[in-house]
Amino acid sequence: MIPSKVTNIACIGAGYVGGPTMAVIAQKCPHIKVTVVDINEQRIADWNDTDLDKLPVYEPGLDQVVAEARDRNLFFSTDVENAIREAQMIFISVNTPTKTYGVGKGMAADLKYVELCARQIAEVATEDKIVVEKSTLPVRTAQSIRTILDASPARPLSSSPAPRFSVLSNPEFLAEGTAVKDLHNPDRVLIGGDEDEDGQRAMNALVEVYANWVPRERILTTRIWSSELSKLTANAFLAQRISSINALSALCEQTGADVDEVAHAIGTDSRIGPKFLKSSVGFGGSCFQKDILNLVYLCRHFNLPEVADYWEQVVKLNDYQKHRFAKQIIDTLFNTVSGKKIAFLGWAFKKDTNDTRESAAIYVADELLQDRAEIHVYDPKVTEERIFADLEYLQQHRSNSCNSSEFVQLDPALIRNLVTVHNDPYEALKDSHAIAVLTEWDEFRAYDWQKIYDAMRKPAFVFDGRNILNREELKRIGFEIKGIGKG
Ligand code: UDX
Ligand code: ADP
Repeated sequence: MIPSKVTNIACIGAGYVGGPTMAVIAQKCPHIKVTVVDINEQRIADWNDTDLDKLPVYEPGLDQVVAEARDRNLFFSTDVENAIREAQMIFISVNTPTKTYGVGKGMAADLKYVELCARQIAEVATEDKIVVEKSTLPVRTAQSIRTILDASPARPLSSSPAPRFSVLSNPEFLAEGTAVKDLHNPDRVLIGGDEDEDGQRAMNALVEVYANWVPRERILTTRIWSSELSKLTANAFLAQRISSINALSALCEQTGADVDEVAHAIGTDSRIGPKFLKSSVGFGGSCFQKDILNLVYLCRHFNLPEVADYWEQVVKLNDYQKHRFAKQIIDTLFNTVSGKKIAFLGWAFKKDTNDTRESAAIYVADELLQDRAEIHVYDPKVTEERIFADLEYLQQHRSNSCNSSEFVQLDPALIRNLVTVHNDPYEALKDSHAIAVLTEWDEFRAYDWQKIYDAMRKPAFVFDGRNILNREELKRIGFEIKGIGKG
């Protein structure tokens, strides 16, 4: 029978979603054993490291949560099969990147990792289980998971019937950098399931888990497809707000208006609200672009081209914003950055995370490298290895970026020649012709900007892609400062 109460949870995938989510479930539910498994041995070793600074995911407050629950009822392991066998409820939290090959290239989600998980569960399980899809997935993935699970082979040495599975959708709404806070105090938890008896039992079991710390009225249950589509829609709406304000930032620059003033003014309308109106060099992260492209793909599949085009424009505008920023740097530096030293403050896609997926910094750097700039990067949490990996990956998978046809593929040796990564921000900034702020890390504001100015080439330019620096102060020192949407 599908369990209606669980004491043993497994999670496949120990990444940015699986790791923090399971750590918080274990912290808040000491009576439930939670095992997080991953095929990546190094990742599991890092999650088990006694030095909490080595956790593979950087999130404020996560180290304390892990310290509290690990080895009590939270375990990290590479033994995927055993975890599947023992658990009554299995979360699938593996990566679902945008496809880089074949049908749906550049648009559809690549479900091969999810499919592999479903096949593995089908092969290993001997008892009835609840399977929860936690990764961001296109609508109707639950159906595919169910089809694979239901086709699980009859066990040769067993006389008992094949196990039954109930598939739930439980999308994750945490934002990186505030993951622990969002998990502790979510606006809502969404659980989608089937309307049959098994589906209801499974949904109740998961509601019971969250009810250990989330007020019941914030736990919403829906049909499975509504839940899947809600995740894509939430991210599409959030990203749309950013693209809307970014579109207007271009107009502000031409007309002398200030985009922050406009955002503040419209945000006080309670129907609009103040959040997610911060104009920037462009949104990044693993979800926004991927989810919108999924939505677009889905609409095209169902022959809704007008709807597809409408949402696709949100991504196109974001590409335009990144391109506009890079172009502004080149134009301002007298139409060429070749041989010039450009210092990058920040590489992560937002502050308080070491995640760089789809970070605007990667695209801006690439565009400047096309013109042979020398880029010196400082980010408080991103490793040198990651930065080179990001730039090299982009060379192979440039299909989505704006004006991709104008770009040439850069050789890895050339990239290593032109890009230097620093551990000390002042070293990165010294002797530079211009500074580009790509991530809104708080520490950037507190730097000694006079000292930075003195060590730079003149005229000293700052391109504040996050509008975080004190413009008046910097101008007083002598900088030429350009922001986003500042006339
Ligand atoms: C997002 C959703 O917020 C979250 O609910 C979902 O589960 C996953 O996707 P995340 O990508 O981690 O979370 O971060 P988010 O805070 O949404 O920021 C995304 C990007 O938008 C960042 O690059 C950020 O800098 C940018 N952004 C955000 C802006 O440019 N302006 C804003 O006003 C807000
Ligand atoms: P997300 O942001 O969705 O959490 P990540 O890439 O951070 O994505 O994490 C996904 C994790 O899933 C990776 O650590 C990857 O090794 C793991 N993974 C992918 N496929 C499998 C699988 N079949 N079994 C176990 N772990 C897997």
